[in-house]
Amino acid sequence: MKLNSIVLGLPMVVSAATLNTKQNVRVGAPTEKLVATMRPEAKRAYFTFGPYELKGNPTAGKASGGHGHSGSSGGGMGGMGGMGGMGGEGDTQSFSLKTTGEKLCAPCSVLSGQIKFAYANGTLTSTERGIYVHHVLTNVLANGRQRSGFVSGLMGLMANGFVGAGDDNGNTPFIYAPRDRSLESGFHVNAADTLGANIVLVNYRPEPQTVYLNYDLEYMPSIWGRDVKSSLLSAAFGAMKTSRDGPVNTTSSPITFSEDGSMILAKGHLHDGGSAMYMSLSRSKDTTPYYTCVSRATYGGKIGGTDQETISDMTDCNKAPVEIKKGDNMVMTAEYDLKAHPLRGITGGGEGGTMGMFRVIFAPAPQPAKELKGEE
Ligand SMILES: *[C@@H]1O[C@H](CO)[C@@H](O)[C@H](O)[C@H]1NC(C)=O
Ligand SMILES: *[C@@H]1O[C@H](CO)[C@@H](O)[C@H](O)[C@H]1NC(C)=O
Repeated sequence: MKLNSIVLGLPMVVSAATLNTKQNVRVGAPTEKLVATMRPEAKRAYFTFGPYELKGNPTAGKASGGHGHSGSSGGGMGGMGGMGGMGGEGDTQSFSLKTTGEKLCAPCSVLSGQIKFAYANGTLTSTERGIYVHHVLTNVLANGRQRSGFVSGLMGLMANGFVGAGDDNGNTPFIYAPRDRSLESGFHVNAADTLGANIVLVNYRPEPQTVYLNYDLEYMPSIWGRDVKSSLLSAAFGAMKTSRDGPVNTTSSPITFSEDGSMILAKGHLHDGGSAMYMSLSRSKDTTPYYTCVSRATYGGKIGGTDQETISDMTDCNKAPVEIKKGDNMVMTAEYDLKAHPLRGITGGGEGGTMGMFRVIFAPAPQPAKELKGEE
């Protein structure tokens, strides 16, 4: 206990002596300097939560490396994404965070955000250091109120997803405003908003590790532009199709948009073994797509103590906002290729499950100006 507080206290003293900006003195906040890139008038800072203490993993270094039984084991909760309660796999450790917008940038409009885990001294965690981010799902409810979805059906019920992370997409930010600045939008955060996060991590090291969760947010310091909605939409309920012989696809039924607006970002979410998420959009009465795109998995870092490559990022699907009309249909396809990339080996044996999703960030079309002010 005593040793712990000395270790935790030290970086604060060092930082306070050498740096004078508030964001850099916090224990567990990365030391990397932040620069706003979305808009010149925007601000950018880390919002740090924790510590989260991970138990040591006695079976560390004994991940099964993806050989073994049938490909569609585990996981299988794809359709319920974003609704909380997404389980981990055998070796995961879960934490939850409940706070309010006041602890973020409120009142503000978040233009982009990214999850970064760091140790008390500000060094970022990595898979090489044995910290595997299975996922962080964050929901922000406006004054406790749900943001209604923008697509029909069960998957589209809610659209409260705030900056999160999957094992596959921690390396680039989620954006809530187009980089080309062609329209003004952001994720609105007010002081009374409730933020809930489900944090699921794996420690691939035998010794315990303590980490801090950071939201690296770029934001306008006011309520500004259109308030975006953000949903995780899955290609199927349950596991994706897989084969050890090569690529196979799982394709969704059409998902219908329930309002006009602009798709700001579509970014795939896959687990290890996945190669790409494809999307096609068509107008209601037309089956010929007016828009297609692909979000590809990039494999990078090795998981600590194993030789297994894991997904380090997914490319963004769209480069500019796509104008959507109510009634448009989206079809998505998840492609897994276990010949090219095995499923994640779980420490102690077994394999990770599959998911095939798109995180879609949607800016509803501006409502026609009301004649009368003050109606509720
Ligand atoms: C910061 O802490 C981590 C975890 O304890 C350690 O591995 C790393 O070497 C430290 N970095 C520095 C620069 O002291
Ligand atoms: C999966 O679907 C995509 C998009 O339609 C296509 O480009 C790809 O070739 C398909 N892969 C397989 C294995 O059928």
